Amino acid sequence: MSAADVIIDVRGLTKSYDGRVVVDQVDMRVERGRIYGFLGPNGSGKTTTIRMLCGLLTPDQGEGSCLGYDIRTQARLIKREVGYMTQKFGLYDDLSIEENLDFFARVYGVPQRRQRIDGTLERLGLASRRRQLASSLSGGWKQRLALAACLIHDPQLLLLDEPTAGVDPSARRAFWDQIHELADAGMTVLVSTHYMDEAERCHELAYIAYGKLLARGTVDEVIAGARLLTWSLTGPGLAAAAPVLRAASGIRTVAPFGATLHVAADSVEAFEAALAPFNTLKAVPTPASLEDVFIALMQDAQDNFGAGAA
Ligand SMILES: Nc1ncnc2c1ncn2[C@@H]1O[C@H](COP(=O)(O)OP(=O)(O)OP(=O)(O)O)[C@@H](O)[C@H]1O
Ligand SMILES: [Mg+2]
Repeated sequence: MSAADVIIDVRGLTKSYDGRVVVDQVDMRVERGRIYGFLGPNGSGKTTTIRMLCGLLTPDQGEGSCLGYDIRTQARLIKREVGYMTQKFGLYDDLSIEENLDFFARVYGVPQRRQRIDGTLERLGLASRRRQLASSLSGGWKQRLALAACLIHDPQLLLLDEPTAGVDPSARRAFWDQIHELADAGMTVLVSTHYMDEAERCHELAYIAYGKLLARGTVDEVIAGARLLTWSLTGPGLAAAAPVLRAASGIRTVAPFGATLHVAADSVEAFEAALAPFNTLKAVPTPASLEDVFIALMQDAQDNFGAGAA
């Protein structure tokens, strides 16, 4: 793999606000054509990290490159080749679909603007709605337009910050199909999300809490790395058992999973001791899900760094 195929390569990114560290020594490496998922609870530092990666925000410490450019000194060059979809989509409500695209095309100095806009409208299925105001669009259509706007200058890297928040399941699915098509054609995508089904659609993941990267790798690697022993519980009295199990020693997480309860423990002995008072419940060992792992990581993070954090 040549250096040109490493699209994001940063080390030790750190940022504080008002004396509080919100991104703490984050390393990240993303190769060309990969879809890299960025997960973590609200306020964990995802947006701040994304802004540092593309040169919009200068880190207090840390260094690295994005698309081969230095994130500290070559921000202007990075921005030309990055499509950044912000959490609020960043569209102009009182402009039409076509006018929004025209605006972004002008900002980026796109050559043969007219053709490029027409092609984009066609490709994204927005041609028949070109004169509709952005404000009148549903969540799914707004998202489609926002994606079109950040693709208009033919970037090499897409930074998508919670692109599917407030979008219904079928639009989310269509969106992800499109992201995979783009990646197959060589686009690199960094996407933050709170949805597990979306995390599972990424080639690689990173999980951040309290500004610290706690896990990274493929879905299988992240699950294996957590070393959770997990059981699925069913039977009468499940709801009453949950808080008692949660408080038992050696129990990592207790989470409802449909009509069952997923319980993760440090050891078989700890699990058996915690379950002993509940003879109406049936326990079946089950592979840990990504959600089990993220819940466990978040709880460990609360125990380790949470005290004193805002
Ligand atoms: N400009 C700022 N000034 C002060 N504090 C900030 C600023 N930007 C972010 N923060 C704080 O930094 C922390 C990390 O915020 P950030 O927006 O990066 O989190 P996030 O992971 O993107 O959260 P969410 O999932 O809610 O979008 C939060 O506590 C936030 O309040
Ligand atoms: Mg955010």
